Amino acid sequence: MSKQKIIALTGTPGTGKTNIAKILKKKGFAVIDLNLEIRKRRLYFVYDRKRKTYVADMKKIGNFLRKKLRSEKYESKVVIIDSHLSHLLPTSLINAVVVLRCSPEVLEKRLKERGWSAEKIRENVESEIIGLIEYEARERHKKVFAIDATKLKAGQIVNKIINLFKP
Ligand SMILES: Nc1ncnc2c1ncn2[C@@H]1O[C@H](COP(=O)(O)OP(=O)(O)OP(=O)(O)O)[C@@H](O)[C@H]1O
Ligand SMILES: [Mg+2]
Repeated sequence: MSKQKIIALTGTPGTGKTNIAKILKKKGFAVIDLNLEIRKRRLYFVYDRKRKTYVADMKKIGNFLRKKLRSEKYESKVVIIDSHLSHLLPTSLINAVVVLRCSPEVLEKRLKERGWSAEKIRENVESEIIGLIEYEARERHKKVFAIDATKLKAGQIVNKIINLFKP
């Protein structure tokens, strides 16, 4: 029986995680929309109204995931954890991290299309410029794969990920 493999799919908001996760799901991967679970199960401390974001409780999130991943649905599967917070999960939970990267210009355009505030856009674009999420991921985990998704079609990104985790 193949072993369960947990992959954190992370990257600055707007880099395309959910877009990719949807396709991976169609191809047979198990996908957990972690941001949705955080909201649904209140796995956060507070909602920061000014920044329009939840302040996540990583301990609660870890405990919730550990339990969820024990269920039959996720047995012997490659499980994709879709969230810009997934790389902050403990190494005991995560086998590898995929970080989607994107050029600041393209990212800014995508976030503008979402109607986000100028401040929130700037904060995220700056974070992508310095490569904050990739840095945080490499600081914590051994197997970290960064993919520059700027010029790739979704299908090409998906193929890269599938090749990384071929059994
Ligand atoms: N490879 C791509 N090429 C062109 N457009 C893309 C690509 N990937 C994603 N997009 C577009 O970028 C936008 C953001 O994608 P998506 O919602 O998947 O990002 P996300 O990383 O999940 O963001 P969040 O962290 O906020 O959930 C969407 O409008 C999507 O259609
Ligand atoms: Mg998303």
